[in-house]
Amino acid sequence: MGNDGEPHKNKYEEIINLLKTNQLKNITFITGAGISTAAGIPDFRSSNGLFAQTQKKYNLSNPAQFFQIGLFYSHPEYFYDFCKNVEKQINSCKPTKAHLFQGFLCQKGLVRRIFTQNVDGLEIKAGCPKELCTFAHGRIDVAGCPECLRDYDIEELKKKIYNDEIAYCEKCKKPIKPKVVFYGEYLPQSYFDSFADITKTDCAIIMGTSLEVYPFNRLPCNVPNDSWRVLINLVKVSGAFFTTNRLKFDNEYKKDCFIQGYTDDVIQKIVDDCGWTNEFNEYCSKFK
Ligand code: OAD
Repeated sequence: MGNDGEPHKNKYEEIINLLKTNQLKNITFITGAGISTAAGIPDFRSSNGLFAQTQKKYNLSNPAQFFQIGLFYSHPEYFYDFCKNVEKQINSCKPTKAHLFQGFLCQKGLVRRIFTQNVDGLEIKAGCPKELCTFAHGRIDVAGCPECLRDYDIEELKKKIYNDEIAYCEKCKKPIKPKVVFYGEYLPQSYFDSFADITKTDCAIIMGTSLEVYPFNRLPCNVPNDSWRVLINLVKVSGAFFTTNRLKFDNEYKKDCFIQGYTDDVIQKIVDDCGWTNEFNEYCSKFK
């Protein structure tokens, strides 16, 4: 045990023991698109992810271009077209075990905050209280003007989108859109308002994210040195984001633990190992 991809047995056991005895009381989640792929929503950077799909469909010069605010201003019809499909898809999606686990721990009163880059709102569908969720990259179900930040009614915007019309801001005349953060836009104030919670966590569970995007990817750096960082992902993510206050994410570090796998499989194992199987099933059954 101890190689990348296999959690150190002792560390994993220590985490399970702390979890099941309710000794971790300020858990934070740091999540990305990988926790929603099991619900049928593609992630961004996988080979069949949203970057590849949109780059090909709109013949774009770089993979992230579709989500740049400049492209939206010049071609709002591209994103409106995208929204039609995504909105329907998201509406019919059910939360995954990774979402439900977050709701389950919220119900136990053990969660300090959920930081997510996802805009699908599946945390809410999984029973996580709104006030504990920070939607760092916005939400698909609220509308606003990217230029002057004025709010708009999402239902009115949807009508326009489905009629193939572009909705413009009454004040600044820019096209409006669902309030999902594009490259070139600021993160919502709620992200900055809740940021300090990461410095108070006793265990950060990082799931389903490549941690490629700044400033969200600074969160794991601000986990206190004496707190746990558990990374659950298909691949071990690495890079500059882990290098400020605390050294690079390292399985060798006594409180960093990488568990490689599909989030839902790993979550099920954690639940079983904590002896929570029946309780978790009962919780999940409320959200089917
Ligand atoms: P990415 O697509 O960059 O990363 C998803 C990560 O989850 C990858 O490391 C996958 O290997 C992993 N993954 C996928 N499915 C998984 C599964 N079932 N179990 C475990 N791991 C899985 O998505 P994000 O990190 O969320 O922002 O992307 C961050 C931001 O990039 C997005 O919010 C978006 C995009 O640009 C903006 O548009 C501003």
